[in-house]
Amino acid sequence: MRSPSVSKPSGGGFTNAKAWKCFNELRTRTGLGPEHRRTWLDPFPCVAQEAQTAPMDTSYLDPRSGRIFPLDQPRWCGDDRAPLLLTSLPGISRAEIDTAVRSLWRYRMALPMQVDDPISMGEGCTPLIRRSLDGAPVLLKCEWFMPTGSFKDRGASVMLSLLRAQGVRAVLEDSSGNGGAAVAAYAAAGGLQATIMAPASTSPAKTVQMRAHGARVELIPGTRQDTANAAARRSETVFYASHNWHPFFLHGTKMLAYELWEDLGFRVPDNIITPCGAGSNVLGCQIGFSELLRSGETEVVPRIFAAQPANCGPIAAAFLTGEDKPVAVEVRPTIAEGTAIAQPIRLTEVLGTLRETRGGAVMLSEEEIAAATLELAGIGIYVEPTSAQAAAAFRKLLAAGTITPEQTTVLVLTGSGLKATPRIAELLGVAL
Ligand SMILES: Cc1ncc(COP(=O)(O)O)c(C=O)c1O
Repeated sequence: MRSPSVSKPSGGGFTNAKAWKCFNELRTRTGLGPEHRRTWLDPFPCVAQEAQTAPMDTSYLDPRSGRIFPLDQPRWCGDDRAPLLLTSLPGISRAEIDTAVRSLWRYRMALPMQVDDPISMGEGCTPLIRRSLDGAPVLLKCEWFMPTGSFKDRGASVMLSLLRAQGVRAVLEDSSGNGGAAVAAYAAAGGLQATIMAPASTSPAKTVQMRAHGARVELIPGTRQDTANAAARRSETVFYASHNWHPFFLHGTKMLAYELWEDLGFRVPDNIITPCGAGSNVLGCQIGFSELLRSGETEVVPRIFAAQPANCGPIAAAFLTGEDKPVAVEVRPTIAEGTAIAQPIRLTEVLGTLRETRGGAVMLSEEEIAAATLELAGIGIYVEPTSAQAAAAFRKLLAAGTITPEQTTVLVLTGSGLKATPRIAELLGVAL
């Protein structure tokens, strides 16, 4: 949806011509053709269709109707408020990594637009450390090492950089915490105005962080969904740069895939387990690894597993019952607050990714999440309960034999424990 808070793009601008030039050069070098496509490569059928007919231009895409919209205008949804993706990009090769840049912008040639002056604070390039859990080796991707303390910085940096290049000067976001903190910080760093709507129950550690960055914070009574509805209404007057809605955000989270591939010496892991609410890491990995497949840098893709709390697990519930659409779930409070999203807007696409990659979904009890939080803390890893779900899911998948110790498994640890002090204090029985 176009917005009134948009001015004419400033000098420098952007182009995706370079990316396409690289793609075509790569195709010539490698002889890559349509026969190299994999069925899972484009789990959104309309993406595949469009990509084969109009490969020279990236557009916004409504994957459910197949409608496309030009990328030269800011837009966050389709005409009928459908969530958008982008049409397929060719991906990049290892030779196109800018190794002089120590942030996710080292992979900027994989983006749909090239910006002269990205809003960057060193996000990405997070540690990947080897540990043993339940006697099995595992790799921990420490995404909480980013500037605002969560993985959301990947998406915020890319989304706001590209929106600013499109002329956007003021943004609206709604968030239960980490997304709002990241958008507030990157807006401040990039000279943009930010309004963040958050549920009244949001942890003060996160709303204080947003306010400190100069964002206007509006606390909305009721559920997380009430906040999302209020933001959708407000989007009539200010550009809605929602981490759940805007496709540029996913092109920031996709950098996790590029980074894991480089971390592992240009190989992809067997399994990735990530906490999942709306699914930005699941879809980011889908997009990133699809691009690496398309660029010929990998022949195989990881299995992607989503970890959700049983108290609010609509994606896991649909996956485990074999459904493609939402199933009725009872929603109760959970200590995994970052994943408490009752109505994920991209449920169909997230389910498609879990199935196409032969991954899966795991539902976790509050006790399992609490135990994993303290267990990780006990080996020095201080993450939010939301993030610890990756470790709890690893344990269950291992016990079920779905994954095995010989495989390379990455747990995506998404947010810092410092933002969840009251929760972790409760788990320890410590009064604050
Ligand atoms: C720490 C943390 N992990 C995971 C998630 C889930 O991310 P998504 O909703 O994109 O699946 C969130 C979302 O806010 C989060 O804050």
